[in-house]
Amino acid sequence: MAQILLPSLRRLALTALASAAMVLFGALLLTLAPPSALAAPADASPAVAPVEPAALAKAVVAMEGLDRMRITLAATLEGRSEEPTLQTMKEVCKPVGMKAAAIGEENGWQVRQVATKFRNPDHAPAHAQERQVIDLFHRHPAITGLWQPATAEQGAGVNYYRRINVEPSCLACHGTKASRPAFVTENYPADRAFDFKAGDLRGMYAVFIPEAPLARDTLVDTKG
Ligand code: HEC
Repeated sequence: MAQILLPSLRRLALTALASAAMVLFGALLLTLAPPSALAAPADASPAVAPVEPAALAKAVVAMEGLDRMRITLAATLEGRSEEPTLQTMKEVCKPVGMKAAAIGEENGWQVRQVATKFRNPDHAPAHAQERQVIDLFHRHPAITGLWQPATAEQGAGVNYYRRINVEPSCLACHGTKASRPAFVTENYPADRAFDFKAGDLRGMYAVFIPEAPLARDTLVDTKG
């Protein structure tokens, strides 16, 4: 499986350092999908779906922001002596999920959180590519983010995946099984998201960016 995935990753992989400046992202992304790919004639079949480079850059920046949001929220719990309640839970991962959905809606993307050891069963891997990428993030901690072509079921577009690591502040709710707050054991009977240590892979953000409507129109025009 790794052998099948790795060559395509080598082509498409972007090891995005979380701290890298947006300018750097822009430059890297342009090398992945040069603007000339958009201008290519309709009968040319570009290796990468014609998603606008600006959308690719925007997705990277949006996921960096989403990840920072969770880390900031979790850090506000640190130093609190009382156990996290339903209210404090709403202040960490639930709003991150809501924000992910909102980012998707705003941009016409699908934005999900995916985890093999999930707390909310909605976040289980949905297809083989997600399982392969999670496995790859597990085996290669230095890879922060990468691109993959859309699956056949998704249609034309690209997928961006960004790893989620465990910080010490996450352990209040994702630490040992016995130390989970009561609201977690009560609300998530199928919970698997415990026994993590700082630095572990927690999961990933998965963004599906469909082929830009603009590119699709251009294609139709050229054909007609
Ligand atoms: C106050 C408790 C709490 C803290 C602190 C917390 N989480 Fe969560 N986490 C939850 C709950 C509850 C869910 C399920 C939310 C839902 O239903 O969507 C969850 C879900 C998640 C998910 C979505 C996948 C899944 O398992 O459903 C990820 C990823 C995640 N947490 C990562 C983190 C990371 C990383 C940190 C630290 C930066 C963190 N969490 C801190 C309670 C917490």
